[in-house]
Amino acid sequence: IDIDWDASAATLGGYADFMAKEIAEQPEAIERLLAGRMGEHGVFLDELSLTKEELAAIDRVYLIACGTSYHVSLIARTLIQTWAKVQVICDYASEFNYEQDVLVTPNTLCVVITQSGETADTLTAARRMRGMGCKVFAITNVLGSTAARESDGTLYVQAGPEVCVASTKAYTAQMVASALLALRLAEARGEMDRSEVERHYRDLCALPDLIREVISRAWQDKRAAALFRRAHSALFLGRGVNATTALEGALKLKEISYLHAEAYPAGEMKHGPIALLEPGFPVVAIVPEDRVHDKTVSNIQEVIARGATCVAVATDGDEAVASLVEHVLWIPPVSDELLVPIVAVVHLQMLARYVARARGCDVDKPRNLAKSVTVE
Ligand code: G6P
Repeated sequence: IDIDWDASAATLGGYADFMAKEIAEQPEAIERLLAGRMGEHGVFLDELSLTKEELAAIDRVYLIACGTSYHVSLIARTLIQTWAKVQVICDYASEFNYEQDVLVTPNTLCVVITQSGETADTLTAARRMRGMGCKVFAITNVLGSTAARESDGTLYVQAGPEVCVASTKAYTAQMVASALLALRLAEARGEMDRSEVERHYRDLCALPDLIREVISRAWQDKRAAALFRRAHSALFLGRGVNATTALEGALKLKEISYLHAEAYPAGEMKHGPIALLEPGFPVVAIVPEDRVHDKTVSNIQEVIARGATCVAVATDGDEAVASLVEHVLWIPPVSDELLVPIVAVVHLQMLARYVARARGCDVDKPRNLAKSVTVE
């Protein structure tokens, strides 16, 4: 694969900031990543550098990452466990490095997920895993980065240079890369037949247009941002894979707008965060059409009953949610509910950006944060 860019090649190209540009680049990034990945012999992922037999023998996967990339690992865990039926453990690199007991088997695969490929904690974790005899695979965006050089195999997500400190296009591309890995594993282990693999690949190929549609609805996020004008804090709620979308939405908001934001699995709200709710308190609920939809709607009712202001990310046509909440960020229907996070998060990226800009923040270079943390 030839990737002829580096960070210095990035220009604003007419956008107000790099965050806006990078949000807009997500559909093309995913198209690039998916192009030519489905061939005669199934999912093409030669970068793994593992034979089909070695892949089939994998009985545990460790996913290690930091920050936004850690949120990718949470989605990847669900995809790998659901599709490939392999046990997955996710860990923050900074925690993993000081854990006494790491439960690896002779066939454990370690996957480090790192946009920059230079995060010190993640590199230390990868070295520790290699030292224990594990194969290490990197999912990264930066060609020739340390993570790529030190791994047994590397999947470049090819999102292009990401300049804004808060990760957007690398996040969605890394989730798609994880889905490819999950499909490849499922195929090698005989957990999916050819037609199922192809169906999932088609679902992935539909994502760029769904994201384009969400981006065309940015005005909805701009309106919702006004509801945060007087806020000091916000709560993000979601269930299942979208508990992770909630985590990522809260992280984006705090990174660039300096508003305190917390994310909770919606069903856990009653065990603490509900005490925060009072009139006007902003709550963002991710409630797409999926198997846990009605459960999340009940949580939204609890939020509204306390007078809080609820913004929902919901699927087109969901009148039940629209009639309850103050404002809806609409997403088009997504054929596989496990892929909703890749579409829904785009609204939360845009929402965070509008809130940050309204508060006069520099969205590309938030205070105290670095694009790549190369110290422990
Ligand atoms: C920093 C950045 C985050 C990023 C994290 C992990 O904290 O500000 O945006 O998610 O590092 O970076 P990596 O390059 O390893 O994905």
